[in-house]
Amino acid sequence: MDAVPAGPRPYVLLSCATSIDGYIDDATGQRLLLSNADDLARVDAVRAGCDAILVGAGTVRRDDPRLVIRSERLRRARMDRGLPPSPVKVTLTGRGDLDPSARFFTVGDADRIVYCASPAVAKTSEVLDGLATVVDAGDPLDPARALADLAGRGVDRLMVEGGGSVHAQFLTAGLADELHLVVAPFFVGDPRAPRFVRDGPFPWHPGRRARVVEARQIGDVVLVRYALSERCPDA
Ligand SMILES: NC(=O)c1ccc[n+]([C@@H]2O[C@H](COP(=O)([O-])OP(=O)(O)OC[C@H]3O[C@@H](n4cnc5c(N)ncnc54)[C@H](OP(=O)(O)O)[C@@H]3O)[C@@H](O)[C@H]2O)c1
Repeated sequence: MDAVPAGPRPYVLLSCATSIDGYIDDATGQRLLLSNADDLARVDAVRAGCDAILVGAGTVRRDDPRLVIRSERLRRARMDRGLPPSPVKVTLTGRGDLDPSARFFTVGDADRIVYCASPAVAKTSEVLDGLATVVDAGDPLDPARALADLAGRGVDRLMVEGGGSVHAQFLTAGLADELHLVVAPFFVGDPRAPRFVRDGPFPWHPGRRARVVEARQIGDVVLVRYALSERCPDA
């Protein structure tokens, strides 16, 4: 278990794919494919340009993502730059209860960091012994503290890939610099399914509109990039 220092935070890029009606998944037990092959290749390249990738514990449990760079060319390019082949994997958990056999912990050789609420640190450290660095991130867990800790570990650029609870927290706390939103060409239409974000006091509203810096068609999906802070180079 490590202590969390205070300090600056990395550049934070949020990435999400939704249906036309704003859902990020459906309500079945299966993972919903929103993206297409070309867009997944784009996401791979965005990942390769980051030092770390963060998802919430809900996404680790529900989607069992690998979170590694798929393209051998991109992996090699990172190594040529003196970087590990894939970015550090990061997750947030309040109650712990993460399966050590999840692909987050077992696929690839990237470092893994679990920011954990104080009460669950001892149990989580035991379960994930040798698989991840478990960091006490306070009670309640404060994402800003996790970001400060990542900066202290040399993470300058962080990609946050969801899910909805994590995206909502980063957005409402003003901890995001850029948003990549992909819209897939279909509806989910099921209120049991999760939406992009839950409700909250978002800093962007009718009186303060976010700035679109790019809109790009990628096959049958559309990518919209929003600048959310002055740190975004296109802002
Ligand atoms: N379409 C997309 O681009 C995309 C991308 C990723 C995920 N998804 C979807 O998103 C859904 C999952 O979203 P979700 O909102 O349920 O889960 P999530 O955002 O992935 O994770 C939420 C969990 O993270 C932990 N957590 C986050 N912030 C915390 C804090 N401040 N303090 C303590 N714990 C914190 C908690 O874990 P504990 O439960 O351990 O306390 C919480 O339950 C899935 O359906 C997945 O398919 C879609």
